[in-house]
Amino acid sequence: MHARPVTESIEWVGAIDWDRRLFDELIPLPDGTSYNAYLVRGASGTALIDSVDPAFTEVLLSRLAGAGVSRIDYVVAQHAEQDHSGSIPRVLAEHPEARVLATEKCRTMLSDLLDVPAGRVRAVRDGERVDLGGLTLEFVHFPWVHWPETMLTWVPERRVLFTCDLFGSHLATSCTFAGGDPGILPGAKRYYAEILMPFRGVIEKHLGRVTGLDAAVIAPSHGPVHDEPKAILDAYRDWVLGPPRNLAVVPYVSMHDSTRRMVERFVEACALRGVRVEQFSLTDPDIGKLAMLLVDAATIVLGTPTVLGGPHPNVAYAAHLANLIRPKARYVSVIGSYGWGGKVVEQLSAMISALKVEIVQPVLCKGLPRPADLEALDRLADAIAERHAAL
Ligand code: FEO
Repeated sequence: MHARPVTESIEWVGAIDWDRRLFDELIPLPDGTSYNAYLVRGASGTALIDSVDPAFTEVLLSRLAGAGVSRIDYVVAQHAEQDHSGSIPRVLAEHPEARVLATEKCRTMLSDLLDVPAGRVRAVRDGERVDLGGLTLEFVHFPWVHWPETMLTWVPERRVLFTCDLFGSHLATSCTFAGGDPGILPGAKRYYAEILMPFRGVIEKHLGRVTGLDAAVIAPSHGPVHDEPKAILDAYRDWVLGPPRNLAVVPYVSMHDSTRRMVERFVEACALRGVRVEQFSLTDPDIGKLAMLLVDAATIVLGTPTVLGGPHPNVAYAAHLANLIRPKARYVSVIGSYGWGGKVVEQLSAMISALKVEIVQPVLCKGLPRPADLEALDRLADAIAERHAAL
């Protein structure tokens, strides 16, 4: 296998995982993914930036061999998670001269997770530089993209910024570069929603430092390389810093059609009032689509029947997910039908305690929705439209 050029003296030596359909046994991967590793070759030193998932170690080693690499001075571990650092033990075994460069916290995590000997790892400070001879590695500590130990690596002579999970996308493609193709953005948005949105506040804090570098190339460790970084940087500014949009998302389940009738009435009422609305059936196994919708939504309306006194388990899962990924929604409501009683609003409200939202008057009805219940749904749509008008 061969290395693929990124720019002068920098090559891609990663692996494409065309067939993976689930990440962390949690996150759907409808388009596969890639594990990007990069080779930076200076006049006096060679660095490998990240490695690949352990299942693809042989691919990495084959590409390094294809690139004629006989010596690796540094392995830069930007993130200890196994999809990037899982092949480091094998690389170190093959290259006894190599030392790992990582944050102090990453050094500990590499030992905890992968048994990388602490003596083979040198902790690097924020802003520290390592000279490779005509090329420099400058480390930018950036915790929580996506674990607390993460850092980025800047090569000023080439204006290349290696960002690991940040700006990545779960996308298997034979194209090394995104080339400013807006088609990359849905995959990048899905990645942001599923992996990085919980850390929106930290990204907001550090984003200015990253954009201030004025990178010519942003090289993440998943998905294509951004050789025209403006598109991905603009998208992140919008996702991270922008206000929520005039969008109400309605994740719902209906067991005997009553809740479905309520959802359809509410969706229709929203549309009539100029509120964009997305109805999402929680029987869809791709929960990532819901995560993507939550990036922009100002309002979440959970539609649920009552099951054993509480919300349908799929709706409880959606609420729990929203609580974990912390979208910038400002309003939440609950609609649904019950047979004889229950506490769905209390239980769902308790599940979203991390969200800073106003609970807008829920609408619950006994059995089939009657005219008075449908009118209550219209009033809920009125309340949402009024709030969205002030966004
Ligand atoms: Fe792609 Fe957080 O690992």
